[in-house]
Amino acid sequence: VVVTTGASGSCVLTFLALWDAGRRVGVLEPGYPCYRNDLAAFGVEVVGIPVGPDTGFRPTVAHLEAAGPLDGLVLASPSNPTGTVLAAEHLGPVLEWASAGGLAVVVDEIYHGITYGAAAPTALALADDVVVINSFSKYFSMTGWRLGWIVAPPVLIGPIERLGQNLAISAPTLSQRAGLAAFDCVAELEANVARYARNRAVLLERLPDLGLVTTAPPDGAFYLYADCSPLGLDSPELCRRWLDEAGVAVTPGIDFDPVRGRRWVRFSYAGAEADLVEATDRLTAWVGRR
Ligand SMILES: Cc1ncc(COP(=O)(O)O)c(C=O)c1O
Repeated sequence: VVVTTGASGSCVLTFLALWDAGRRVGVLEPGYPCYRNDLAAFGVEVVGIPVGPDTGFRPTVAHLEAAGPLDGLVLASPSNPTGTVLAAEHLGPVLEWASAGGLAVVVDEIYHGITYGAAAPTALALADDVVVINSFSKYFSMTGWRLGWIVAPPVLIGPIERLGQNLAISAPTLSQRAGLAAFDCVAELEANVARYARNRAVLLERLPDLGLVTTAPPDGAFYLYADCSPLGLDSPELCRRWLDEAGVAVTPGIDFDPVRGRRWVRFSYAGAEADLVEATDRLTAWVGRR
């Protein structure tokens, strides 16, 4: 285990330790944009692997085989932006296939602890040769404290530590002390998860009134990815207008999927329940005014 500056820092260190320029690494589309951007910054060839509502945004071995030869793969469970959880029956075959093909796999488990059904299994229970990333930013609500960790096979710990020494030196001591204290705040943290669950229910109930399609309700994280095509505007334009005309911030899907993202939007429901109700009221009124 290596303690780092958030999951973002963990990804940078791990990607640098694993992949040289020219390697081909698969990322899911839609997926968290920093994977693509960080890998591209290091000269890695990013291979977008499209996943859609037909598989609940879950990758299958068929998806991976269709991507052509790969040196590595980055996954997230639960995922940003779809909230998709990879259960053992989904993750197991993918990890097995990757291991057989000699791919290095990184699994971002930053949203572990925030699920609305069965808990998300850790990839470490299914394979020994994966790298798992985690952070205090989500379940522990310590986003600005820049604290995370990497669980990696022993052979990678030395290179990751050497890169960490040169890039960030260490995670802040104050944050590490606060992180230890956060382990004693489970009641408060579980109350946060209960609030996300109520907010998720509000969104699932109200989004159809806006004409949005939610084909795969999120199993985890605090995001909902919805098809906005029935509204007849592409997502950057729709989100710009919602911000300007209704004062509601929603993220356009192109952040997460440069190819198909124009017909998708991502809602974040981590905030207060009253704010979410107000936001959906405003969007419903906006749709009514059109
Ligand atoms: C999937 C995923 N990984 C990593 C991060 C970055 O987290 P951190 O604040 O720990 O750098 C985020 C933040 O939104 C995320 O959604």
